[in-house]
Amino acid sequence: MSDESITEKKAPGPTTDLKDMNDLVSLCKRRGFVFPSSEIYGGITACWDYGPLGIEVKRNVKELWWRAMTDRADVEGLDAAILMHPKTWEASGHVSGFVDPLVDCKNCRARFRADQIDKTKYKPNECPSCGKFGTLTEPRQFNLMFKTFMGPLEESASVVYLRPETAQGIYVNFLNVHQSARQKVPFGIAQIGKAFRNEITPGNFIFRTREFEQMEMQFFVKPGTDMEWFEKWKKTRIDWHLANGIRKSKLRFHQHKDGELAHYAKAAFDIEYEFPFGWQELEGIHNRSDFDLKRHQEFSGKKLEYFDEVGRERYIPYVVETSAGCDRTLLVALADAYRTDGDRIWMQLHPNLAPYKVTVFPLMKKPDLLEFKDKVFNDVKKKYRATQDDAGSIGKRYRRQDEIGTPFGVTIDYDSLSNNTVTIRHRDSMAQETIPAEKLTSYIEEKIAGYKVVD
Ligand code: GAP
Repeated sequence: MSDESITEKKAPGPTTDLKDMNDLVSLCKRRGFVFPSSEIYGGITACWDYGPLGIEVKRNVKELWWRAMTDRADVEGLDAAILMHPKTWEASGHVSGFVDPLVDCKNCRARFRADQIDKTKYKPNECPSCGKFGTLTEPRQFNLMFKTFMGPLEESASVVYLRPETAQGIYVNFLNVHQSARQKVPFGIAQIGKAFRNEITPGNFIFRTREFEQMEMQFFVKPGTDMEWFEKWKKTRIDWHLANGIRKSKLRFHQHKDGELAHYAKAAFDIEYEFPFGWQELEGIHNRSDFDLKRHQEFSGKKLEYFDEVGRERYIPYVVETSAGCDRTLLVALADAYRTDGDRIWMQLHPNLAPYKVTVFPLMKKPDLLEFKDKVFNDVKKKYRATQDDAGSIGKRYRRQDEIGTPFGVTIDYDSLSNNTVTIRHRDSMAQETIPAEKLTSYIEEKIAGYKVVD
């Protein structure tokens, strides 16, 4: 019989959340979620690489978003090019207006965004880094778009930009999608893709980076119905984050007041998340009026009107935009999931987001147990992303899976062989249940469907 037990002791301490981002950064590095980019060369600021587990979570985030958006009859998908005609960015206002005020300290060489210096903490012209007075330069307007050249000549005529948002690819394709997909207003276009911003103050891990992915949807509506759709999309989007298991108490709406509104926005709300470094934007929901289509009509000379066959009228649709950062959604998922009780760290990820849904553990490396394990593993992995682990004590193996958020551990011991059963160990509660081996897949399906987050 086995000399190991599959039962484990509960850890003594109370459960705590993520308090220090460094704990998450080190877990992500250690377990292969996120690595600093080009690390062997010392890294490059504000760029990160997703490792074997990070890419799984990221793909889950994108798939959940894509399904939620495009399974609707009134939203179509798109994948536009990153490089666009340079006039796009004149029309959108990015060439003239996508700027941040940059100040440098002549003493310590630290660099800040003038609008982000906390005026309640620092006196005018005091450097927040070295504390000296009178050493800050006058603010200079710094455009956040990355410039490059198209073709072999590095001259002004060949300047192109790496897109700072995916939205413009949607506006310029409004007519193409409307006509080819035979959609009538109201309808939306959804897109996931890379965006680039030469941020002055990137940071907080993958929160603000220079290369990131956006998940954006532009919903084209009849003017006058825009605020109604704006309210509907606000609710749809916060419900999506809640369905992914993000705790309600950690999410809130923040309304942009007059001074905060972007040049294109008639109304805007951010969905904010409470990170260890404070409440910060996760996603923006904007009523962009007819600003974008009007500007593209003006700059391209191409009519971007919609003909409403029912009302027999022509108009430029208004746009309600939902704009989420994919990396930021992933950061929220990881930060929200992080739990420790002093002894144990576990990632309480929603099973839909977890890199693996199931791990199969043979209690020991004995041929009959391994054979049974292979059978169970090959069966469960047909439906769920699964892994297996047979190295070290069972307690250590449970802990390794806890840290990467695998919700179900399946243990094979000698009772399994005699009774054709498996024991499921639950990540969140550490509870164990023994079930017939052939019921494993349907059991997991049921548990994932009924998964509830405790706020
Ligand atoms: N099309 C509208 C737009 O781009 P935004 O508020 O500038 O609006 C939308 O960006 C979302 O993109 C943000 O809520 C955030 O999740 C993400 N995002 C923006 N800048 C980012 C950055 N430097 N790093 C990571 N994510 C970023």
